[in-house]
Amino acid sequence: MDQAEKLRRLMEKKDAEKKPFRVITVASGKGGVGKTNFTINLAVSFQKRGLRVAILDADFGMANVDILFGIRAKYSIYDILHNNKSMEEVSAILDNGIKIIPGGSGISDLVDIDIDIEKREKLLSELSKINNIDLLLIDTGAGLSPVVLNFSRVADEVIIVTNSEPTSLTDAYGLIKVLITENINNNIRLVINRVKNVREAQETFNKLSKAIAVFLKTNIKYLGFIIDDEKVGQAVRQQIPFTEIYPKSGASQCISKISSELLGTETKSSSTSIKEYFSKLIKIMGR
Ligand SMILES: Nc1ncnc2c1ncn2[C@@H]1O[C@H](COP(=O)(O)OP(=O)(O)O)[C@@H](O)[C@H]1O
Ligand SMILES: [Mg+2]
Repeated sequence: MDQAEKLRRLMEKKDAEKKPFRVITVASGKGGVGKTNFTINLAVSFQKRGLRVAILDADFGMANVDILFGIRAKYSIYDILHNNKSMEEVSAILDNGIKIIPGGSGISDLVDIDIDIEKREKLLSELSKINNIDLLLIDTGAGLSPVVLNFSRVADEVIIVTNSEPTSLTDAYGLIKVLITENINNNIRLVINRVKNVREAQETFNKLSKAIAVFLKTNIKYLGFIIDDEKVGQAVRQQIPFTEIYPKSGASQCISKISSELLGTETKSSSTSIKEYFSKLIKIMGR
């Protein structure tokens, strides 16, 4: 290693020390609203800005983060719990540096009382091998499972994705209602997906936030919107995130705005490291 390389590494280390470790859970009431596409493209956007990002695919019913990145995960957290696999075998590091942790049915196993202390310890020690991360993004399954609630409970921020269809809005409302009732109030923000323009996004947000203010007596924050863009479907078919193949597309610009907004707002990180985070998560899941 030459002097310049040494210096570069030192600077990187210093930068990393400045950034608090941050966990963002992405959830939705209804499925098919664009949660996974939002998550992976946000990850790409953060990574492009120099953050070190990992995605945990916690949608045990329809895990597809790997597919949207054009890879196929062979193992998941399930195999750490039941087949003695290691984190190296389970996780993937993409060319762009993003780390992917497939959850598989190991995620739903976490709330299972049959998972004994020993297995939980093993899982924690494997998960802790994912280090040097600034940001962990969690793509959850749709709806109101205990798993989703727990992932929201231990996150620093929760982003709820919805589109403007009434069914998607009522399901988003239902999810927010449960989060609030369960006292999971940690910085919930809304992303409105598949809108024609900024006005439709604002109107949709206003509708939902009004209902939340009236019936739940809470204010919900607006994070941003993503326009309905044919490039999204095209990117899905090519299994490459749209922010990578179509960086100039409308949808990519929307993602970029959202990532700026997120980086611009400081949050109180509740965990200082991935180990601390997973330790909390595993504890809360096993209750
Ligand atoms: N902004 C968008 N513009 C156009 N199509 C979109 C957009 N967001 C999502 N989609 C379409 O919706 C489909 C489902 O998205 P996905 O991210 O898999 O949803 P979820 O994870 O919520 O189930 C995608 O395959 C894509 O075709
Ligand atoms: Mg999904």
